[in-house]
Amino acid sequence: MLTGRRIVAGVCGGIAAYKAADVVSKLQQAGAIVDVILTEHAGAFVRPLTFSTLSHRPVYTDLWEPTGEAAARHIELGRSAELLLIAPATANTLARLAHGLADDMLSAVALASTAPLLLVPAMEHHMYNHPATQANLQILRERGAVILPPEVGHLASGEVGVGRFPETAAVLAEAGRILGRARDLAGRRVVVTAGGTQESIDPVRYVGNRSSGLMGVALAEEARDRGADVTLIAGAVTAPLPNGVRVRRATTAREMRTAVFAAIAGADALIMAAAVADYRVERPARQKIKKGSDAENADGSLTLHLVRNPDILAELASAPEADGVVRVGFAAETTDLAGHAAAKLTSKRLDLLVANDVSRPGSGFGTPTNEVTIFHIGGRIEQLGLLPKAEVAARIWDRVAPLLRERQPALEVAASASE
Ligand code: CTP
Repeated sequence: MLTGRRIVAGVCGGIAAYKAADVVSKLQQAGAIVDVILTEHAGAFVRPLTFSTLSHRPVYTDLWEPTGEAAARHIELGRSAELLLIAPATANTLARLAHGLADDMLSAVALASTAPLLLVPAMEHHMYNHPATQANLQILRERGAVILPPEVGHLASGEVGVGRFPETAAVLAEAGRILGRARDLAGRRVVVTAGGTQESIDPVRYVGNRSSGLMGVALAEEARDRGADVTLIAGAVTAPLPNGVRVRRATTAREMRTAVFAAIAGADALIMAAAVADYRVERPARQKIKKGSDAENADGSLTLHLVRNPDILAELASAPEADGVVRVGFAAETTDLAGHAAAKLTSKRLDLLVANDVSRPGSGFGTPTNEVTIFHIGGRIEQLGLLPKAEVAARIWDRVAPLLRERQPALEVAASASE
């Protein structure tokens, strides 16, 4: 995983800087090509010679050093990096990264780089817990940075708290995990819908469904991690919303329809994992329906008249906006899975249909796992076993990525033909 991979390791000025030496040494031993950048203050804790000896490469410290070599190299270093690891990341460096400053070699390389960013904060616990540091971490997380949280333990200040630099093995495992991710969706714009829709009965009540949004969120996270620009259209979701993706909220099926049509312009793929309500209450009551009110029938029962909602995927089948967009549908079935799934694949003109029998254990709403069958156009059917939803998400994108590659030349031809 690490052999031959280009890692830029930024080391900041905290006592944990000496532990970064072990990280660099182990990365180098694992075959990575590690370029170390020390901040000015890191140099006060550990000498550049320590790192150049361990990495077998020059170490960068001062962006403004007189030979001009560092200044010349910072763009190239940022561009060629496959991972930018900052360990330890101090409160000061986190603040600079969060706000886009570029006043030293490390922050300039970070700004010039599109590589995934792995931050390993380590500092005194009051500094770590300070709202400013936490807000900066949140900004960076939202931009897609991976943050390996510090451990709780004895700190250099003599106190016990959160802020300790993690074990070298934990840093290497996280680096390996990030580098192991395929980047096959880089440059792609994808739209994912998640969760259920809610249709008003009155201002208090609604008709909804059991969707948790876990599957859609997992799909959005996987696409983000594989380099895509992701818009997540979230209905009612109980799953935490991911960072690093554009989130649009939609409560009703009609709101979701509007959001999908807005997001689809210029998109390369759409995965409709949302459980969109097929029906809505024709005339939701403006005031809360009270027992014994005129809304009731004479026998005290209540009748809700439901009308059909737009079928978003079915509309997209003939919408010019969705032309050339790889479209994936989901089908939750309780009977004749294969028959219904195959029919939906063709009637909604989808590229793939992911079907699951929600009556099976481990495969229903709100479960962390899913057992799906993927229906391809052309009749291919693949049964994936019971898998965590994150794994199902990876398998789905594994199948969408080649379709995107196939479609790209067609799009280029179309673009040049229209010039
Ligand atoms: N879908 C949609 N708009 C709707 C209903 C569903 O876009 N109004 C999408 C879902 O997001 C899903 C796929 O269509 O990707 C299949 O949804 P499902 O409800 O299982 O199928 P339906 O076509 O609505 O058929 P039925 O309810 O009869 O099973």
